[in-house]
Amino acid sequence: MEANMPKRKEPSKSLRIKVISMGNAEVGKSCIIKRYCEKRFVSKYLATIGIDYGVTKVQVRDREIKVNIFDMAGHPFFYEVRNEFYKDTQGVMLVYDVGQKESFDALDGWLAEMKQELGPHGNMENIIFVVCANKIDCTKHRCIDESEGRLWAESKGFLYFETSAQTGEGINEMFQTFYVSIVDLCENGGKRPTTNSASFTKEQADTIRRIRNSKDSWDMLGVKPGASRDEVNKAYRKLAVLLHPDKCVAPGSEDAFKAVVNARTALLKNIK
Ligand code: GTP
Ligand code: MG
Repeated sequence: MEANMPKRKEPSKSLRIKVISMGNAEVGKSCIIKRYCEKRFVSKYLATIGIDYGVTKVQVRDREIKVNIFDMAGHPFFYEVRNEFYKDTQGVMLVYDVGQKESFDALDGWLAEMKQELGPHGNMENIIFVVCANKIDCTKHRCIDESEGRLWAESKGFLYFETSAQTGEGINEMFQTFYVSIVDLCENGGKRPTTNSASFTKEQADTIRRIRNSKDSWDMLGVKPGASRDEVNKAYRKLAVLLHPDKCVAPGSEDAFKAVVNARTALLKNIK
């Protein structure tokens, strides 16, 4: 009798997800995927033509995850080919080359392209983004430092990893955290967990960026050249409260704070 009873089905623990890679041509998207899936590195540049597709299985906690990876071509020429692959994505790997400022500046443009393709009903809030600051092995040519990249990523609630497809540094950690975050998202009803939101304010992030790009000490403190002692001190106090490392956890806040202290000292020396 018992043998004829229908077996109770175990709840399915397998999960199917879609991830895509985005970023300018030649930043290393395909190499990062190859390093993770095939444990090897190809130094010759073979541009992706349109799109490359692959499937891989990974284990996250007790679940088997089937990952469909769509590796996009970064070259503008392939826009027409890749634009239909943005939809139904749970994870985006956003890559730039730390030695190529243009590829970092292009990240906003990649988000805009995706947003446009998803249309007015598309929701980018519930996608996991991981930013890969790639080619960190090329230390001599590096022009975007960690705090600048991390600030950009974290102020958007994105994950951030420093990677090298050549040496393998950061690659496994990046994918592991990426997949765990996607599974968390799926188990949270498709909503990005709130812990991913930035732990610093937009004002703090914008101020750090402004300080980085300021042309002199006046500009850094946000006062007019020739400002009085009082004006300098007032501006300094405001920035010090905003950026004090005890209060501000935004990447780069410590350097920005030090720069502000130095700027104030330099200005006060020359004001009677
Ligand atoms: P498209 O397919 O054209 O969009 O480019 P891609 O972003 O996929 O770049 P790809 O992975 O093909 O790599 C471009 C070039 O950068 C190749 O010559 C790679 O060998 C090199 N490269 C990729 N990652 C690294 C890295 O971490 N370090 C160094 N030194 N070179 C890398
Ligand atoms: Mg490629």
